[in-house]
Amino acid sequence: MKNIVILISGRGSNMQAIVDAAVPEARIAAVVSNRADAAGLAWAAERGIATAVLDHKQFDGREAFDTALAALIDGYAPDLVVLAGFMRILTAGFVTHYENRLINIHPSLLPAFTGLHTHERAIAEGVKFAGCTVHFVTAELDHGPIIAQATVPVLEDDTADDLAARVLKEEHRLYPMAVRLFAQGRLRIDGGRVRVLPPQ
Ligand code: GRF
Repeated sequence: MKNIVILISGRGSNMQAIVDAAVPEARIAAVVSNRADAAGLAWAAERGIATAVLDHKQFDGREAFDTALAALIDGYAPDLVVLAGFMRILTAGFVTHYENRLINIHPSLLPAFTGLHTHERAIAEGVKFAGCTVHFVTAELDHGPIIAQATVPVLEDDTADDLAARVLKEEHRLYPMAVRLFAQGRLRIDGGRVRVLPPQ
């Protein structure tokens, strides 16, 4: 059984998808947010999951916040830390501390469209396919070994919201699957690539 800590900043629909997937090999040890008003916190608490808030505004800089955040997370003895719409840039020290046990979901087909406003940019570029990526986190933003991707078509008259909704549906399928592969010990980082091992 792997202990999982999920970090959110907002609605937490990916966190909900992971909780609802009830991965047999994983236990959600806690949901942590940098914002007390993150809607996902109440949802988790209602289901008896431990929740915690660490407000980044109370800290003097990123290093101090990340040090306190790691101490809080480590209190739950995580095997895996899952970023699910956690809207903070993490320091290299934090990322190194959780090397190979920190994953993120990004709403684009990385390495295309790192950063924010992915759907607007995808539409503006005229790409025909968009999607989402689950990856191990490294110090470089939205980089790191890719665990899984899902694609969706970009349709002629899509608004950014249309595309976001289509991608989000795939996120909710992809992220629990990636968490499960990790919890089953089936992800092997090999150079910059992730190999998915067959089931035991
Ligand atoms: C998702 O689109 C995710 O890919 C991105 O932030 C959004 C979080 O949404 N990193 P939610 O809070 O999981 O609903």
